[in-house]
Amino acid sequence: MKTVLYTSALILSFAAPAFAEGDVGAGEKAFKKCKSCHMIVPAEGDPIVKGGKTGPNLYGVIGRAAGAQEGFKYGKSLAAAGEAGLVWSEENLAEYVKDPKAFLKAELDDSKAKSKMTYKLKKGGEDVAAYLASVAPAPEEEATDS
Ligand code: HEC
Repeated sequence: MKTVLYTSALILSFAAPAFAEGDVGAGEKAFKKCKSCHMIVPAEGDPIVKGGKTGPNLYGVIGRAAGAQEGFKYGKSLAAAGEAGLVWSEENLAEYVKDPKAFLKAELDDSKAKSKMTYKLKKGGEDVAAYLASVAPAPEEEATDS
């Protein structure tokens, strides 16, 4: 009986959360696929990842409103989603990178939604999201739980 109790406690402690947490190390590697278009550069200090300018700077993107990187010209749909209140979390970012256009269509409930990001990351979105969450300023009160 003791063994049974012990075993079930073990199983409970390993129970998977609703959203699979990503692996930061794996995400850092996977970011190689993103850096042709995205850099990760704090406003002050050294670049974390030097990258292209086709897409917005992703420093501190988790917790930021969608389409809010100053100076970047976003597509209409992503800008509209941000104005409607979309804030990046690890969970929705992982979903977005799988298929940005499909994500925006669902988010805006608009079959004509478009994305300027045509790249799709089939696997490992959670890892990249966890990595992006790790390259950010220390969290402030901006954490709205929407
Ligand atoms: C071929 C270029 C390209 C690649 C590769 C690419 N992106 Fe993008 N990304 C873009 C563009 C362009 C946008 C702006 C989309 C829009 O305005 O509709 C964007 C937007 C984003 C946004 C929204 C940012 C914001 O400020 O709202 C996130 C998050 C993002 N990309 C993550 C990634 C990740 C993670 C990868 C790698 C897995 C990646 N992207 C690969 C071009 C790219």
